[in-house]
Amino acid sequence: MLNDTIQIVPDDSSKPLRIVVLVSGSGSNLQVLIDTMQSGALPIEIVGVISNRADAYAITRAKDANIPVAVLSHITNGKRMGIKTFERHASTQLAAWQPDLIVLAGFMRVLSSDFINNAPAPMINLHPSLLPAYKGLNTHQRVIQAGEHHHGCSIHLVTAELDAGTVLTQAMLKVVPNETADSLKTRVQKLEHQLLPWTILLLAKGILVIENTLSTKYHNSLPTLPLTLFIDK
Ligand code: GRF
Repeated sequence: MLNDTIQIVPDDSSKPLRIVVLVSGSGSNLQVLIDTMQSGALPIEIVGVISNRADAYAITRAKDANIPVAVLSHITNGKRMGIKTFERHASTQLAAWQPDLIVLAGFMRVLSSDFINNAPAPMINLHPSLLPAYKGLNTHQRVIQAGEHHHGCSIHLVTAELDAGTVLTQAMLKVVPNETADSLKTRVQKLEHQLLPWTILLLAKGILVIENTLSTKYHNSLPTLPLTLFIDK
């Protein structure tokens, strides 16, 4: 995907960034993108949503906002849709929607390297940990068990290796006494709701540029990647 020709910033910067969002669950992050798009705070157009679950509340959120939805359910009539079939349908949908950016927001299927490498736009994923720490599932529980003092969320480029692509941005908080996995999840989700639109704004404005190598545009005035928000409450 990241070859010499990839440039995420639209030629005409007055045009909104075309985004497709992949979801599996509640879609609270999708809702934040819808709200910031509708308020005019974020120069994006969500051109489509793909869900791999028929019961995802994210579908309702998208439909309420008149955003086209493709439901590619991983189970229909008790039969499991294999990842290859899912990816074939998703590719057709992406080709029709022509996004500038694909956002995985709570999307819970592991995608193949073929799909990732041939996607029509760069793909980013929201992950609930301070990567490279705590890749994979149950991050909040594992953070508590390990007695960590800090936790947070990351947005990274999607590559064939799970949760291992370049980290673009992170938001961090302090783990407080008597914290539980549930309380951490709630607090981290609040961070996610700030980090995702902030990151997409940086991309849409061309401040973060995904080309053959990821870079910040203003090398002298911005820190090196990942850009980090520290929210201490
Ligand atoms: C988020 O907490 C994200 O970190 C995780 O899945 C959750 C999705 O939440 N991967 P939502 O569907 O956006 O509400």
